[in-house]
Amino acid sequence: MISEAFQKCIDPSCGLEYPITDIRIGCDRGHLLDIKYKSKAPSSLKEVFYKRRNHSNNIFNESGVWRFRELLNFCQIDTEDIDECSKYLVSLDGAEGRLSKPYHMSKVSNYVGVQNMWLQPEGYNPSGSFKDNGMTTAVTHAKLVKIKKIICASTGNTSASAAMYAANENMECDVYIPSGEVAPGKLSQAFQFGSQVIEIKGNFDDALSTSLKRAGEAGGYTVNSVNPFRIEGQKTIVYRALESLDWNAPDWIVYPGGALGNTSSCGKSLMELYEWGWIKKIPRIAVINSEGANTLYTLYNGKFEESELRWNKGKPDTDLIKRYYEFMDTNGIRPKTKATAIQIAKPANMLKGIRALEFTNGVVAQVSDGEMLDGMTLVGLNGFDCEMASGAVPAGIKKLVREGTIKKDDSVIGILTGRQKDSGIPVDYHKNPENKFANPPRS
Ligand code: F0G
Repeated sequence: MISEAFQKCIDPSCGLEYPITDIRIGCDRGHLLDIKYKSKAPSSLKEVFYKRRNHSNNIFNESGVWRFRELLNFCQIDTEDIDECSKYLVSLDGAEGRLSKPYHMSKVSNYVGVQNMWLQPEGYNPSGSFKDNGMTTAVTHAKLVKIKKIICASTGNTSASAAMYAANENMECDVYIPSGEVAPGKLSQAFQFGSQVIEIKGNFDDALSTSLKRAGEAGGYTVNSVNPFRIEGQKTIVYRALESLDWNAPDWIVYPGGALGNTSSCGKSLMELYEWGWIKKIPRIAVINSEGANTLYTLYNGKFEESELRWNKGKPDTDLIKRYYEFMDTNGIRPKTKATAIQIAKPANMLKGIRALEFTNGVVAQVSDGEMLDGMTLVGLNGFDCEMASGAVPAGIKKLVREGTIKKDDSVIGILTGRQKDSGIPVDYHKNPENKFANPPRS
């Protein structure tokens, strides 16, 4: 099935369109872009995807991203032709998205008070985070347009993933990171995979604006989640979750919120599946912010100027966002959380994020560092691994259940976005007997 694909501005009143081969992260007026497909995907593909799980050593069937390639066929290729797939699609030999699917974790379920709950460890990707889902597609686009060097800013996981795919594809990679704010295990991956590390004084938002500026000046190819091809790959997180439920949509899908690439991709995948008639019910998205980096929580819940930021059918109050950013700058408010992955104050995908929340009647909650650590630890006590930012998911579900927003018999899928790459965090947690689930060492 070959569907004609193009890029389109997300602002309905602008709607500018561009060919797939254009290298851009926004329309000429500066709005974010979507990848659009002209034909509807038939639901008979569900069978095709299921059969591919018996992959017969075809890496594009083995990959948990490319198994769904008809739904992200922006290369506009014959998806059954393996030679053509090999020529165009970038994959770490089928490893991305292969092991991540929803798992039941009984201790976490009992803790949050919901039994119909599954957590999907995206940390089981080759570079250890959900980023590989979108990096495999962004680098595929980079290869399509004959790019030799990719660029990103990162709190650590994006850079690890970008560096890994660049190494495997013989591309160069520059990573801009906030100096001293990246977990050691993530920084080491950037070096290990041979990327050029560029340390920026400041936080992730500063690193992103510098990297975008330099990419703009030098014609570089940005692989942050503002790149719409990243979002296409991350849709498969939702496909794997839904497939495991026989495409019966759950009541909730829950993510930690940082730059809101995940929220955006979840929203886009649900919009498409609903439009194509693959799902009858739209799950509600819950985004969980850290209390120390809670811009979405603040704006969405009307905690600034008592005005609730909404997509408003494509007419969001962008001045409200500007005023809040100015307020943060003027008052020296900087994001601060031990969960450095989501230590972000100016989510680059804010508008796509609130569009997703509007489509799904979503909610935004915030949790403390302590709550995230407890959530992370309990995931560990179920024999699964996740980092502190991912601990926001069980912590947020617990909070939303306590508030009565998530009901005890609702079905919930939570996305554990990355594996533990900061070994000091669980060691410190367990050494302190005051922590809820601490198991201090004995002599
Ligand atoms: N969880 C983890 C483990 C992350 O690394 C990130 C983002 C997020 C959640 C937030 O996801 O941006 O889609 O809302 N990390 C980026 C990075 C910023 O550079 O690795 P989002």
